[in-house]
Parts: sequence; C-alpha cells; structure tokens
Amino acid sequence: MASKSLRPHTELLVFAVCYCILFMTQVKAKVPAIYVFGDSLADVGNNDYLEFSFLKANFPHNGVDYPGGKATGRFSNGKNCADFLAERLGLPSPPPYLSIPANSNITQVFLKGVNFASGGAGVLDSTRADQCLKLTKQIDYYSTMYTDLVEKLGFIQARDHISMSIFAFIIGSNDILDYVKSSSSYQLNVTAEQLVGSMISSLEVHLKRIYNLGARKIIFVGTGPIGCCPQQRENSTSGECSARTNSISAQYDSGVASLLHEMKSEFNDMNYSFFNSSSTLMEYIESPDAHGFTDVKAACCGIGNLNALIACLPVSRLCEDRTSYVFWDLYHPTEATARLLTETMFSGSRPYVFPINVKQLGDL
Ligand SMILES: *[C@@H]1O[C@H](CO)[C@@H](O)[C@H](O)[C@H]1NC(C)=O
Ligand SMILES: *[C@@H]1O[C@H](CO)[C@@H](O)[C@H](O)[C@H]1NC(C)=O
Ligand SMILES: *[C@@H]1O[C@H](CO)[C@@H](O)[C@H](O)[C@H]1NC(C)=O
Ligand SMILES: *[C@@H]1O[C@H](CO)[C@@H](O)[C@H](O)[C@H]1NC(C)=O
Repeated sequence: MASKSLRPHTELLVFAVCYCILFMTQVKAKVPAIYVFGDSLADVGNNDYLEFSFLKANFPHNGVDYPGGKATGRFSNGKNCADFLAERLGLPSPPPYLSIPANSNITQVFLKGVNFASGGAGVLDSTRADQCLKLTKQIDYYSTMYTDLVEKLGFIQARDHISMSIFAFIIGSNDILDYVKSSSSYQLNVTAEQLVGSMISSLEVHLKRIYNLGARKIIFVGTGPIGCCPQQRENSTSGECSARTNSISAQYDSGVASLLHEMKSEFNDMNYSFFNSSSTLMEYIESPDAHGFTDVKAACCGIGNLNALIACLPVSRLCEDRTSYVFWDLYHPTEATARLLTETMFSGSRPYVFPINVKQLGDL
C-alpha cells in the first residue's frame, strides 16, 4: 500500500527533475549563431542571386525531398551539411547572405547567423572566379556585417556574440577537382604538392582574417575522398575511385589539420573541430549495408554511365530510393549522407573529428 501511494510522487519527482534538466540545457544553449563559408556543399541559395553564374541548382530534381519539394539552390535532394549543423546546434539554418533584403535591419538578421557559401568557390580566389562568391568576397561580406554589429551593439557585446558563435568552413574540393581536370601542361608546371602548398597558405590568410574579425570557434570540414565521387569514377575506365585525386585531397586535409593546430598554439583563445570526412565517408563506401546504403558509386540524379555525365537537370534520371544512395549528383552527397556525416561531426570522436567534436565546441 505504502509503496503504491509513493509511486505517483516518485514519477512526479522524476518528471520535475527531467523537466528541470531540459529547461537548464535550453537556457544553457551557448551558441547564439552559426556563420557558414564555403562551396556548393554548403550553399543554401547564394548562387541563385548571381546572374552571371551557371553553377546553380534552383531547378528540379534538386530539392525533391526538401520541405515543400522545391529546389532552393541547394545542390542536394534535400538539406545539406550547413542545414544539419545548424539543426544540431538548435539554431535555424541561416539564410543565404544574398537573400537578405537591402532594406532589412542588418543587425537583427546578422545576430541570427548568415550563410555566405557559394557553389564553385575555392580556397584560391582564382578557382571558378567568375562563377561564384570567392572566399575573399564571402569574408568581405562578413566583415561589413561585423563592422555594423560593432557600431550598433558596441565592441564588447559584439565581441561576446561573435566569440560564442560557430564559424563553419566547407571548402577546397573545387581547387582540387579543377586541378586534376586541367591541361597536362598546367599539371606539369604546378605539382600537386605546390597546389596544396598554395591552398594552405591562402587558407592561413583567410582563417587569420576571420580570427581578427572575432571568430573563436571554428569548424573545418575536410575535402574527403573526392576521388570517389561519381564524376571521378566515371572518368576512370574501371569505375574505381581516382587514387590520385584522393591522395591530393588527403594532403590538403592533413595540411588543414596542421594549420589549425598551429593557429591554436599561436592564438590560444581559439578552439576548433576538424572533421575528417574521408575516414567517415570511406566507411560508407566500404561497408554500405552497415550505414543503410545500397549504391555508393552512381549518382542518384543524372545521365549516362553512373549517372555522372551531366549534373542533375529536370531531364535527368532520378533514382527511386534517395536514402539508399551516397551521392545525389556527380559531385554532391544526398541528404541522407549529409545527415549521417553531420551526426559524426557533432558527436563523434577521433579519428573522425578532433581535437573536439562540434557539440564540445558549442558547449565551451
Ligand atoms: C607552363 O610553363 C611554360 C613555361 O614557363 C609556359 O609557357 C606555359 O604557358 C605554362 N602552361 C600553363 C598551362 O600554365
Ligand atoms: C578523364 O578526363 C580527362 C580530362 O577531362 C580526359 O582527358 C580523359 O580521357 C578521361 N579519362 C577517362 C578514362 O575517361
Ligand atoms: C583522415 O582519415 C584517413 C583514414 O582514416 C587517414 O588516413 C588520414 O590521415 C586522416 N587525415 C587527417 C588529416 O587526420
Ligand atoms: C579551448 O581553448 C582554451 C584556450 O586555449 C583551452 O584552455 C581549452 O582547453 C580549449 N577547450 C578544449 C575543449 O579543448
């Protein structure tokens, strides 16, 4: 009898404790905003506003699984890594910078996060320069907003907001893909080591600039096994991954990881997460079943061998079960892949993400 009458109270207490913890975690949400820089892996619609660019994804079948089923400019059937990162941090996915109306209250918009990523962008400004917002331009736009924030809120408040926010970088694939498909004379003149060397020195300039503009929490997503994307497989007679492209990508990734490590010792109030998308994605490619995939080679949307001859266009073939493909089109992952990758970025550990994961970075 006694124990029976006690139970409702215990349940109530458990409920109250749970509710309290939930409430406290919400109050403790430490990341006020996310700012995204990069290429088509993170573009949420900036290129739609670039009249001169043909690197767009604002037509079907892109967006077929996005809420509303409409193409948004994301190079995906649904959401991409920028969306999932924001989601995991409990934030709305930030809007494309170029979608912000000129007459809006810039300070209010900026405080909630902005996505500057643009399809085609590279670490080197020369990469597809006439097709996208170059990385320098992306940071110029951020810099203008930062100045506005300092003017409107005062330096201390602006600095506090920015230093708690997360800065995500997803960039580097285009420089490498353009290099491997360039003329052989260019490849003879510039070795892969020299290419990676100039990418890393350029990245150092960009990351130091962002640090000087207040960023203290940085996520960097490595380029991963880009030699395994359908376009690269299609270009080999055997349909295998391009070992050379993967090797250049791995050199770039280890250069980025060393650069971040050095920056951390130079600026010790900076923290970062490096995501080794190579180790993660290779596991999906090597054991598809374990991760819910059945096709790791072909693009879900496209035409020709491996659906990799052209981009995802309205006339392209569209696969039926989008969740079972690793790749959406000849270059980009599906929403299913982006969701899984972000999960590991957020709560995974070494060797996938280091020295800390995104959750730990957010909690600092
Ligand atoms: C490679 O270098 C040679 C000699 O400097 C130059 O004439 C040529 O234009 C270069 N080729 C490319 C593609 O940069
Ligand atoms: C791969 O692409 C290059 C440059 O576009 C081309 O010259 C080469 O023939 C292609 N190789 C195969 C096997 O398709
Ligand atoms: C990423 O993972 C791969 C495979 O596990 C490894 O060979 C490579 O060294 C790692 N790269 C970095 C920068 O940690
Ligand atoms: C973040 O950076 C600070 C300053 O260097 C350091 O004391 C702290 O240990 C770092 N946090 C983590 C989780 O690495």
